[in-house]
Amino acid sequence: MTDDRRAACIIGWPAGHSRSPLIHNYWIAQHKLNAEYRREAVPPEQFADFIASLRARGYAGANVTVPHKEAALALSAPDERAAAVGAANTLWFEGERLRSTNTDVEGFLENLDASAPGWDRGLQSAVVLGAGGAARAVVFALLQRQVERIYVVNRTRARAETLRQRFGAPVLPAGWDELPGLLAEAGLLVNATSLGMVGQAELNIDLRGPATLVVADLVYVPLATGLLTAARQRGLRTADGLGMLLHQAVRGFELWFGLRPQVTAELRQLLEADLAKA
Ligand code: ATR
Repeated sequence: MTDDRRAACIIGWPAGHSRSPLIHNYWIAQHKLNAEYRREAVPPEQFADFIASLRARGYAGANVTVPHKEAALALSAPDERAAAVGAANTLWFEGERLRSTNTDVEGFLENLDASAPGWDRGLQSAVVLGAGGAARAVVFALLQRQVERIYVVNRTRARAETLRQRFGAPVLPAGWDELPGLLAEAGLLVNATSLGMVGQAELNIDLRGPATLVVADLVYVPLATGLLTAARQRGLRTADGLGMLLHQAVRGFELWFGLRPQVTAELRQLLEADLAKA
């Protein structure tokens, strides 16, 4: 390994499921960089020590996934996005300082911009299913696009209430039973729960309503979730979880390796082939 070789990694526990190595190593090869992106399986009790030695281990930065996103925030200097969301998924060095951000925010927005152009034009009302870390990133992203009413529908109502406390008046906690009425006037529906994921219960939502509704799902295993399939059958525009995963990866790569990569059709096909094997 030469001195100028740069490295980044995904830190998780477990780390084996992550598709991030496939994405970043594709871009590294595409741009012929002297660099490498690795997996690091780090248990929670070793996470702080691992972060303290990140630079000594040769890393220019890292992605962070379950269960470390809150700890990563606490151990770094977060930007506005990570601080607002309360979770960090990307770390990089600014001089000696370890900084963090949450790239799910821009990943969500840029995927929608690419998949359903104009989705936010005049958008007044959005419905977000879920109130965990993924939902917080989605809500913060929607606030950046000045969405006036963001209905947060969650099984555990108290968690939806904490999103209102965190983000303020545009956030309106609501119950699953209110969905039909909310969808009659919403321009966007986002699934930020784990429902519809392989091994989880299916998400069955009646999508009869205005044909202008855009449907986004953060789940990408399976790639075509029941929700997205139902939306497409109704002719609605959709944005899938794989698109968000790809778009959220762009900023980390740029921070560590100094150039902004593209989300290409070829990269997407590579990931689709990998997901099909799963
Ligand atoms: P993440 O950080 O990825 O968002 P999370 O914090 O575990 O993960 O959030 C998972 C979300 O899926 C939550 O909104 C959860 O609802 P609760 O807050 O009520 O737990 C939702 N979820 C998971 N399984 C569910 C189920 N079977 N029915 C309804 N909601 C479910």
